[in-house]
Amino acid sequence: MSQPKTVNDASTDTSGSGAARTIKIFDTTLRDGEQSPGASMNLTEKLEVAQLLAEMGVDVIEAGFPIASPGDFEAVKLIAQTVRGSTICGLARCSDQDIDRAWEAIKHAPSSRIHVFLATSAIHREFKLRMSPDEVVERAVAGVRRAVGYCDDVEFSPEDACRTEHDFLCQVVEAAIDAGATTINIPDTVGYATPREIYDRFSMLCERVPNIDKAVISTHCHDDLGMAVANSLAAVQAGAGQIECTINGIGERAGNAALEEVVMALRTRSDYYECKTNIDTKRLVPASRLVSKTTGIQVQRNKAIVGRNAFAHESGIHQDGMLKERSTYEIMSPEDVGFAKTDLVLGKHSGRAALADRAKTLGFTLTGEQLREVFEQFKALADKKKEIYDGDIIALVQQQISGLADEQWSLVDYVVTSGHRRSPQVELTLRHGEKEQTERVEQGDGPIDAAFWAVEKITGIELVCKDFRVRSATLGRDAIGEVNLEVEHKGRSYRGVGVSTDSVESTILAMLNAINRIESERAS
Ligand code: KIV
Ligand code: ZN
Repeated sequence: MSQPKTVNDASTDTSGSGAARTIKIFDTTLRDGEQSPGASMNLTEKLEVAQLLAEMGVDVIEAGFPIASPGDFEAVKLIAQTVRGSTICGLARCSDQDIDRAWEAIKHAPSSRIHVFLATSAIHREFKLRMSPDEVVERAVAGVRRAVGYCDDVEFSPEDACRTEHDFLCQVVEAAIDAGATTINIPDTVGYATPREIYDRFSMLCERVPNIDKAVISTHCHDDLGMAVANSLAAVQAGAGQIECTINGIGERAGNAALEEVVMALRTRSDYYECKTNIDTKRLVPASRLVSKTTGIQVQRNKAIVGRNAFAHESGIHQDGMLKERSTYEIMSPEDVGFAKTDLVLGKHSGRAALADRAKTLGFTLTGEQLREVFEQFKALADKKKEIYDGDIIALVQQQISGLADEQWSLVDYVVTSGHRRSPQVELTLRHGEKEQTERVEQGDGPIDAAFWAVEKITGIELVCKDFRVRSATLGRDAIGEVNLEVEHKGRSYRGVGVSTDSVESTILAMLNAINRIESERAS
């Protein structure tokens, strides 16, 4: 592969520091990412994620697929009304209804984009769309034209582009640009392509589509064969000016290219790619944590850039080298991607400002109300635990973030007894609005099971537990225990998170978090 061309540059730096193209980062965590099985986020969570994406310098935020559901529409609209600094994009199929709905949702943003897509590969044309090639071109052009009628920033994606015949792909792309598309995205929808093929396909488009210079060419790679990041970088080498990606690489099936990986690859190997992005890389770890928490999808320990082990050196030889000179074994510094330098300790005497400041360093900007609530929990925790570490603060803040604004059920009190050869007993009191209700159960095969029974009895909501994970947020026997729960109710999956130094309490809080999600979905 040759060095980067300058076709379709999003922009070029001619400051004298070397011509570095600025590659646009288009984040689709809230759209393709949310399509990950079990990853749905509520309105508050989506807004929180969008705000962090904008603060970190993401150029375009694909906030959702407005026609998909009323909840999706509301989330995109709220993000368009609230989030500033990034272009807000809504996805639509090439149909009038979809495009009108997308525009309705994004029109309040100072900078907005409509993203229309239509499948172009033979396999999709024949079996899914049942359309002839001419009909596909016609529909694509009509979709782009309708979107252009609303908005001058229009992206067109020929879905399954990487399995589309070259001649036909060139024809569709040319027609879409003629119709007014300003970005042409070339998705590897099924994650089938290899880096070399991607490079050749993008080069082919740059060479053969006569009006290609009128649009930014973009890459959108899925990770089915584990090549999404490599493929995205190959596209950049062939002239792509935009990368579509998601935080932690979440997305449909095996996911999309991971934002943190493409950004750090372009930055760390700028000598090779001669490209840069607008991303504040110190926000990568906080963004990863936030997305992991809000989607319930945990980040593997050895995940590049943001995994817990990404900068951990275990072998003696490596540790020795690191002590002598960091660059012997480290190509990036942990601080550059947002790992905190110190695990600063707060305690009982730390004030609200110190807590807000620490939370900010860890990547969370709390509103007045959020800070008030987290501070209350922080004080309660400080009474139980002498030293409070970053992990504790992250757990408290993230629990607060995943709580719902209109929380219906909350914990008032509980007493649990259990023992060897004794049935567990739980006496539980919950609040719902102004009303408190207490139930006593003597059922289950342990205190956690008994807590499940008691919560179900009071709320009247039956749950099937699909996954239950407890982990300690920090070191030490007095560490906060975080429970992550996945439950099923009426065939749908819901998540819940709860934190406390007492694991039964964490469980009850996680259950209530899930139940509040069920109730809020019923209400919307
Ligand atoms: O993977 C894909 O093809 C998509 C399109 C909607 C861009 O997500
Ligand atoms: Zn996709």
